[in-house]
Amino acid sequence: MSSLSPLPAATGAATAAFLRPSLLPPKKSASQLSAYKSRKPYSPHFARISCKTSSSDKEPNNNDQTGPTTRRDILIGMGSLYGAASSLSDPTALANPLQPPDLSKCHPAIKGDAGDTADCCPPFSDQIEFKLPSPKEPMRIRPAAHLVDKAYIDKYEKAISLMKALPDDDPRSFKNQANVHCAYCNGAYDQVGITPSVALQIHFSWIFFPFHRYYLYFFERILGKLIDDPTFALPFWNWDSPDGMQIPAIFADPASPLYDAIRAPDHLPGGSSPLVDLDWSRSAASLTPEAQWQSNRDVMHTQMVSGAKKRTLFFGTPLKAGDLADGNGQGTLERTPHGNLHIWVGDLTREYKEDMGNLYSAGRDPLFYCHHGNVDRMWDLWKTLGPRRTDFTDPDWLDAAFLFYDENCKLVRCKIRDSLDNEKLRTGYQSVPILWKDSKRVPKKIRNKATAATATKKKRESKRVPKTKSATTTTKKKRELTDLSKFPLVLNKAISVAVPRPRKNRSKAEKEEEEEVVVVKGIEIDRSQVIKFDVALNDDDDGAPAGPRDTEFAGSFVNVPHRQKPGASKFKTALTLGITDLLEDLGADGDDTVVVTLVPKVGEPVIGGLKIDYLAD
Ligand code: C2O
Repeated sequence: MSSLSPLPAATGAATAAFLRPSLLPPKKSASQLSAYKSRKPYSPHFARISCKTSSSDKEPNNNDQTGPTTRRDILIGMGSLYGAASSLSDPTALANPLQPPDLSKCHPAIKGDAGDTADCCPPFSDQIEFKLPSPKEPMRIRPAAHLVDKAYIDKYEKAISLMKALPDDDPRSFKNQANVHCAYCNGAYDQVGITPSVALQIHFSWIFFPFHRYYLYFFERILGKLIDDPTFALPFWNWDSPDGMQIPAIFADPASPLYDAIRAPDHLPGGSSPLVDLDWSRSAASLTPEAQWQSNRDVMHTQMVSGAKKRTLFFGTPLKAGDLADGNGQGTLERTPHGNLHIWVGDLTREYKEDMGNLYSAGRDPLFYCHHGNVDRMWDLWKTLGPRRTDFTDPDWLDAAFLFYDENCKLVRCKIRDSLDNEKLRTGYQSVPILWKDSKRVPKKIRNKATAATATKKKRESKRVPKTKSATTTTKKKRELTDLSKFPLVLNKAISVAVPRPRKNRSKAEKEEEEEVVVVKGIEIDRSQVIKFDVALNDDDDGAPAGPRDTEFAGSFVNVPHRQKPGASKFKTALTLGITDLLEDLGADGDDTVVVTLVPKVGEPVIGGLKIDYLAD
């Protein structure tokens, strides 16, 4: 079951027409924008929700907990939320976890330019508190998408078809489920009790993993209920293995409900560059499957192992009630490969890069939930990869909460603390080989030497790292340095900066205690654009910047397009990369300075500055 097999055959899906009007929101007008501004309770017809488990079912008995609710009931039900939120202004209050949104105050999400909105507001009703499923419930074991059989595909397709057939006033409909993501990501909610208003944003911080875990949890249970199968589990896209290096074939059949016509045609199986590039950049050339796998393997090692030795490096930095997600930073995996793959699947020729390439529309692609299956699997795996790889214990993380509709159409308030153990959620993953735990990265200078010696022998298969070709003919030189005093600057070409290291030759214990990090400060981007830049250390200038296979490569900044407010597209954030292992592997641990090279790949961000720091958690 879990042995390596060749890449699945291409299906030729690339020729499908790019048409799917039913899920495209109509163009919004200025009046929609004023709906945003006035914060009217949205779509009053949604106050009563419908909940038919299948077309033959009756509406459930609404007398007990699911009852139709007046707006007054909702506000009373939310009293405790307001109570919690009002303590935010109390300086003596200790905890300050992010609160779930007030669905009655949802307003249109922002798709792009001012005035261009998407209606993502869910129906609303009263809430219940989340309860873990009974330990007697069967486990739902999520299979790798490339390993499923016909019986599974039939079941999965049937469930998605039924979900797509649910009416718009059923919160479990595919459209409403897709909108969950839109609303939480593109400014449809303001944080409750915070003035002036701060948009709720579940990316770019430590909220990222738990939010998406719950999202899949409910999405999966709804599907299971629709086909009456309590064991039904979503598939995961095993993009961290050589077998999963394409869009899984089950999503690429235009006749299947799992298909989405709004994807990059060249990245479909059978397209011109179908191999998943976890380090995708617009300019990258296609690699052979073997070279692509080697690159992907090294990306995974950096993101999961060497670059993720502290919690905040892996999960992202804290976001508490009242915080802008802007000031915080994404974790390793959220950037790459998570963000990269969104952009890789989305159709970048479209203004808003739908579907996967923009957070507002990503949930419309069934592949989204498969992609996030693997993201969620990485959370579990990360905890097995070394000491101190544990969940946060900060109550501001544990008590942060979200709202989701469950399979019975109940609106459930879920705290992060109940999401930490997949087994308690009765969720697991099929075991497949993990081939990226060991690093195969080599410093460029060593590889160049070795290659020069065997230049007449084998040529490197990778076109993207042409060191081997050029090593004998190119003379490497030190990079021209930009002075630290030149920041802030627009990163429109590669720059290198000598950054002082406050400490050097630290002991093993010190290194375990605190991870050395390079911090790219004051990154300013237009959040609606694809942005990517790479960071390398002590990278000699030999004509090609370091890539994922080179030890010098520290990581990338990645922004998946999204908007939060009309007219406000600027996003200020930071990038923090763990570099203790990297400096050791480069033999640079005794140096007073490190040369940090920033290479713009897509877009031209403003960079505020650079520093070396030490991170305890
Ligand atoms: Cu919420 Cu993959 O994004």
